[in-house]
Amino acid sequence: MSLLQVEALQVSLGPRDDAVQILREVSFSLEAGATLGIVGESGCGKSMTALAVMGLLPTPHHLQGRIQFRGLDLTGPDAARWHEQRGRHMAMIFQEPMTSLNPVLTVGFQLAEMLTQHEGRSPAQAMTQAIELLERVGIAEPARRAKAYPHEMSGGMRQRVMIAMALACKPQLLIADEPTTALDVSVQAQILDLMLELQRDHGTALLFISHNFGVISEMADEVMVMYAGKTVEQGPAHTVLQSPHHPYTQGLLSTVPDLERRVEHLPVIAGQVPNLSRLPPGCSFQPRCERASALCEQSAPPLMNIHTTHQMPSQKVACFHASA
Ligand SMILES: Nc1ncnc2c1ncn2[C@@H]1O[C@H](COP(=O)(O)OP(=O)(O)O)[C@@H](O)[C@H]1O
Ligand code: SF4
Ligand SMILES: [Mg+2]
Repeated sequence: MSLLQVEALQVSLGPRDDAVQILREVSFSLEAGATLGIVGESGCGKSMTALAVMGLLPTPHHLQGRIQFRGLDLTGPDAARWHEQRGRHMAMIFQEPMTSLNPVLTVGFQLAEMLTQHEGRSPAQAMTQAIELLERVGIAEPARRAKAYPHEMSGGMRQRVMIAMALACKPQLLIADEPTTALDVSVQAQILDLMLELQRDHGTALLFISHNFGVISEMADEVMVMYAGKTVEQGPAHTVLQSPHHPYTQGLLSTVPDLERRVEHLPVIAGQVPNLSRLPPGCSFQPRCERASALCEQSAPPLMNIHTTHQMPSQKVACFHASA
């Protein structure tokens, strides 16, 4: 069984009489130690997918479908165990770490607290280990830095602290939601390397969210492309990146100058992501799609297996006119 299995996830946000559906039929699985990259423009539902997995969706919300983690059915009988999973087995890094760090506590204290809670260390042992962790994530003068408050650090340094936090609890699943978007180019690559190191050392599975295909191509084994709350293309990363079949994926990739570069670029496709409360009829991508036909305005294309030239049946595309 996969470490994480998400089946037919549907999420609406807001009060029941005024709810907006933000995720529609999202399914994926993630094996232990593997990386799934979720990619798509801003507003496509990437963060909400991550928050759904963490059990941290804003309220009020309505969730349908199934989320299984470590054999537990978190959207069913094991829902009460979500909290314990979050502390111990799953962790999340956000784009702006300031939101997840406590501004009135030093970073050393916050790290040490995590270690006393999860590893049963004494306060003194925990502080020593916290300093070691800060050093491990590349923070110079870690003993001095441990006494700093979050606002006294740069964005890149705060993100390193978040990774140190993740290292402290050695989660089986680490969700990274655009972890390098707010950082300088030179720091981005170091943060990505740290996550790969964490994965290599602890066999951590990564759910890696980005709007950037260059970063996804470097990090991910599998990739899921989202548009307007829905999966439009999915499959092994090398297959999807080399042979995208959905016009949206093709559009995103055509805006990437060089997959080898780790620099974050905002993709640009003509038109805008639709307002989720006023989706166009049929295929949500249809107003921006050069391949759209009358059929695309009438019905929504289901996600279906396609056979690529490499006979890779695991690539899936939601498009009536999919082609390489
Ligand atoms: N608290 C909220 N209440 C209602 N809608 C929200 C809320 N937060 C985000 N949304 C909407 O949910 C959709 C998906 O957002 P999000 O998952 O954050 O996108 P992404 O991470 O891909 O940029 C967007 O249309 C956004 O406007
Ligand atoms: S179903 Fe039609 S509108 Fe949608 S992506 Fe495919 S060709 Fe474009
Ligand atoms: Mg987001």
